[in-house]
Amino acid sequence: MKVNAVTKTYEGKTVLRMPALEFEPGRICAVMGANGSGKTTYARILAGVVRADGKIKPFEGNESVGYMPQKSYPFRMTTLSNVNLIVKDKARALDLMRTLSIDHLAKQRAGSLSGGETARMALARLFMGEFDVLVLDEPTASMDIESTALTEELIKKACRERQCVMILVTHSLKQVQRVADDLLFLYKGELIEHGEAKKVLSSPTRQETKQFLEFLGD
Ligand SMILES: Nc1ncnc2c1ncn2[C@@H]1O[C@H](COP(=O)(O)OP(=O)(O)O)[C@@H](O)[C@H]1O
Ligand SMILES: [Mg+2]
Repeated sequence: MKVNAVTKTYEGKTVLRMPALEFEPGRICAVMGANGSGKTTYARILAGVVRADGKIKPFEGNESVGYMPQKSYPFRMTTLSNVNLIVKDKARALDLMRTLSIDHLAKQRAGSLSGGETARMALARLFMGEFDVLVLDEPTASMDIESTALTEELIKKACRERQCVMILVTHSLKQVQRVADDLLFLYKGELIEHGEAKKVLSSPTRQETKQFLEFLGD
């Protein structure tokens, strides 16, 4: 699936310059880079939440894009109602909630959930829909190890079964090693590495990537 080259400029400062890219359905493409390198800006442009410079559309066709923002705000209703909100299918909602181990929170007010629980709720709501492209912005950032594992399983399974393009912004090197097929590496708004995740991780071409990977714990 083709994605057009896009740039984003705020008050005269260009914070993102991405070339045209080809994403393959059924593969998970991770996006890494330091704080402020442009990951969320790119995710937002792909999701259609933010306009790229010159109103360039990221996709050529009418691809449907699902997006999980870095921070999700729950609606003032129960967790189940939050999941079963846009696509309505209670059995499926509960099934997804079970997969992410939040089914016991079904009747609880969503506003009272912890960060990691809220993220799983947002993910369950997103996965209720059918999309050509899914953009997840650090979905596991506030999750514990168990929830992270459940989420990674769901992401992998959904990507293969639905054959969608999956774009996963993450800070975790281990997560990239566990789930990513491909990897984009951003540095100060520029794409400095791009390729198969294993290849990029084992033989990065740029000094900035090497440094970043060296200092990256988990
Ligand atoms: N609405 C905005 N106005 C001005 N600058 C912004 C805005 N959104 C993002 N930026 C800047 O763009 C850069 C990239 O931000 P972001 O994409 O959120 O980075 P990341 O997700 O990689 O941490 C940062 O320097 C940030 O301050
Ligand atoms: Mg971000």
